[in-house]
Amino acid sequence: MRTKLAAGNWKMNGLKAALSELGEMAAAASGPAEVLICPPVTLVAAAADAAEGLAIGGQDCHAKASGAHTGDVSAAMLADAGAEYVILGHSERRTDHDEHDEDVRAKCEAAWDAGLKVVLCVGESLEEREASNTLDIIGGQLAKSIPDGATGHNLVVAYEPIWAIGTGKVPTTDQIGEVHDFMRARLEKRFGEGVGRSVRLLYGGSVKPSNAGEIFAVSNVDGALVGGASLKAADFVPIIEALNASAG
Ligand code: PGA
Repeated sequence: MRTKLAAGNWKMNGLKAALSELGEMAAAASGPAEVLICPPVTLVAAAADAAEGLAIGGQDCHAKASGAHTGDVSAAMLADAGAEYVILGHSERRTDHDEHDEDVRAKCEAAWDAGLKVVLCVGESLEEREASNTLDIIGGQLAKSIPDGATGHNLVVAYEPIWAIGTGKVPTTDQIGEVHDFMRARLEKRFGEGVGRSVRLLYGGSVKPSNAGEIFAVSNVDGALVGGASLKAADFVPIIEALNASAG
């Protein structure tokens, strides 16, 4: 059985005062679902110290272990600060920083070398969906951005349609199920049934308390990667609770 995962991506939001949200989130993390918060890098160490029972993650790391890369953060630095996870390949990184699958793959290897678990994001644009290219795009991203050596322990994949991120638009449950079943099949084919079945698959893009329950009922959805609705405990706790309920 895969442990459900409710992951919050705070993006470039949150000053020290935001750490006060973590207490209630940690209290909600006593159920069957694992709860992960990825705050901005400035808060990773403090969040890891403050939040017993929550997993903490970074939102990106450099592909190199150290060196002359001003402003960048290595996977080992995140791990040293108390992070257990790192999000890689988010569409905002792919767009804002021109990251491609090859970059994501190199970062993933660096993260694994440092002992971090990776939440690796894939997703199609609206144009790609409208041209019926969604599964081709997702298949290509999975093939090119995941290195060899994936396991159910070191990899989580998040399906995040770009057009659903921060827009309030959500795919139908059939559309989510189609992509998640496809990703499961691709992972089983490449890594073998055992590993392929053990990698957790998250849906991300405008997940809210009001739609979480129906999304968590979709086949091969093992949780969510949540942006805006993870910033406040009042929004994120009901999502954690819906995931706990779906775990039975
Ligand atoms: P959103 O962001 O929940 O605000 O749509 C999701 C994400 O980008 O991870």
